[in-house]
Amino acid sequence: MKPIISPSILSADFGYLARDIEMINRSEAEWVHIDIMDGVFVPNISFGFPVLKYVAKLTDKPLDVHLMIVNPEKFIPEVKALGAHTMNVHYEACTHLHRVIQQIKEAGMQPAVTINPATPVALLQDIIQDVYMVLIMSVNPGFGGQKFIEHSVEKVRELRALIERAGSKALIEVDGGVNLETGARLVEAGADVLVAGNAVFGAPDPEEMIRQLHKL
Ligand code: DX5
Ligand code: ZN
Repeated sequence: MKPIISPSILSADFGYLARDIEMINRSEAEWVHIDIMDGVFVPNISFGFPVLKYVAKLTDKPLDVHLMIVNPEKFIPEVKALGAHTMNVHYEACTHLHRVIQQIKEAGMQPAVTINPATPVALLQDIIQDVYMVLIMSVNPGFGGQKFIEHSVEKVRELRALIERAGSKALIEVDGGVNLETGARLVEAGADVLVAGNAVFGAPDPEEMIRQLHKL
């Protein structure tokens, strides 16, 4: 099955953000991936809600919002106000993950849980029935353009097996260092959604790169 492609606007040219979002609108990408950072959970700050309000206006594609922040539940109303489809919160940032997942659902969004490279897939056992999607980080979050961590392919395989054992319908998304080569192996291992930043916006023809990723 063709993977869902979620281009990350973190790698877009912020001087020409509208142009880059229009490219995503024209492309075969199904979603738009939005990385929100706080300089605390991750060592970087990206963009906040005043900017994202305009991003949301520029596209009708579902927004796949990835919060790399502490206490992400504080921002459920703001993420909802963007019209987000999916709200991804980090396992490592939520002491009461089950509660946060329920709050995201109550707000009318699809809840997703994200795990860092050092967090084992097995820890998702007791939450897998409650989430729409699991996002496996294949780099340490905070920056675009980093090198893919090889062990992530094995984690996708493990997660696929855990999902099947549990009879869950959760999607598997992978984020970080995804390109045509790593993407092909991730899809083969069971990934449903590929996030790509640098691979898309660093390509000579970003729209064509999305088409190629979609064919994997
Ligand atoms: C990293 C972000 C990613 C990032 C991926 O912290 O979560 O979404 O944009 O960028 P690439 O595809 O360049 O690794
Ligand atoms: Zn991301």
